[in-house]
Amino acid sequence: MKLQNVLVVGSGGREFAIAKKLKQSAKVDRVYCAPGNAGMVSAGVEPVAIEELDFARLIQFAKDHQVAWTFVGPEDALVAGIVDEFQRAGLKIFGPQARAAQLEGSKEYALSFMNKYGVPTARHQTFETEEDALVHVADYGFPVVLKVDGLAGGKGVVIADDQAVATVTIKEMFQGQPGRLVLEECLVGPEYSMFVLIENGDYQILPLAQDHKRAYDGDKGPNTGGMGAYSPVPQLSDSDRKRMVNEVVEPSVRGLVAGDYHYHGILYIGLMLTKEGPKVIEYNVRLGDPETQVILPRLATDLFDLVDTCVNDRTLPEVVEKPDAVLGVVVAAKGYPQAPVTGQVLPAFPLTSGIDVAYANVAGKAGHLIGSGGRILMVTATDATIEAAQGQVYDYLDHLELADCQYRHDIGNKAHQ
Ligand code: AMP
Ligand code: GLY
Repeated sequence: MKLQNVLVVGSGGREFAIAKKLKQSAKVDRVYCAPGNAGMVSAGVEPVAIEELDFARLIQFAKDHQVAWTFVGPEDALVAGIVDEFQRAGLKIFGPQARAAQLEGSKEYALSFMNKYGVPTARHQTFETEEDALVHVADYGFPVVLKVDGLAGGKGVVIADDQAVATVTIKEMFQGQPGRLVLEECLVGPEYSMFVLIENGDYQILPLAQDHKRAYDGDKGPNTGGMGAYSPVPQLSDSDRKRMVNEVVEPSVRGLVAGDYHYHGILYIGLMLTKEGPKVIEYNVRLGDPETQVILPRLATDLFDLVDTCVNDRTLPEVVEKPDAVLGVVVAAKGYPQAPVTGQVLPAFPLTSGIDVAYANVAGKAGHLIGSGGRILMVTATDATIEAAQGQVYDYLDHLELADCQYRHDIGNKAHQ
């Protein structure tokens, strides 16, 4: 078979991991990433200077470079309809169309879908005005969860411990702009990230992972895009995993078929295992960042094959997981997420067996990279157990000179507490 070229859209650590995994496939020749980042060159990936929302130029590029298909990393391009536009241009692309992408683009849309198709989630109400929200603020007791109804990069959620904080937050969320706000019961339990590869009604489940959303150790501080992750999740029993599949994945996939979504891509289900069983916290319509950096290295199945069968409407091959444990810690800029410092000179990352570095917000040239935003990179280790991988990552990080950076010191603790 002739080797194939592929295009990845996006620029973060997730896209680094996707592009690198595709580059490792024996069936792939060139991997382009638009816009990509300066660190990707080290993985043999070719950054292309086209922004992820510039669909016309991306389409032209895919045509000019005989790209077999395009893999869309981030949600904003999906919500803006990149898949619909590529398909109109006769090109193959991996990801859901804009209509389905509303499952991530609007909390309200996702909640109505879950209600309609019997997918368990938190009790909730949506409000159009500040006044209404304030009247109902105490309906579910405290703490209560407040969400902006739109894309917010994981940062549009506030868990308010009491009425005073909730009141201030509601006022802030409505300030200056009309919008909608979702008020939700606060669920309690361990949280997991489940990634389902869907080809219409056919699906395969990718390795499970756990993310760490809060900025600081001990799950303190503001919500972020994610500060570290690991896979597998040994603390989850087989019976609880089965419940997640039967009670959450099955009705979700049935709903996508019944609603005629023609879903081809990833459905990322953020779920919490509560005392009453698994409940969905959110749907996303793409892979997670930083979970991708720990799940893709665990795939024994070729990623090119998985995506290629999906975009060509063939029956998905079975996803086989390697027994390895992978754990990754995000190195973020000091001040992230509120006011990240940029321009920090990054040290050399010594080559060490079992350690990988996935670059995200970096600029400059390979060997002379500098930080250019919130989450700069992620260091991952592969080992026999989560504990061993955790030991390796922190040992590696402890020996680096990381000025103006921060990272959490407890990624993976929940796997063996
Ligand atoms: P989201 O932007 O919906 O992913 O929410 C970000 C984070 O807020 C989630 O990963 C959870 O840790 C937390 N969260 C969201 N909704 C709830 C809820 N109903 N109960 C408890 N925690 C929640
Ligand atoms: N890690 C959370 C996300 O990708 O939304």
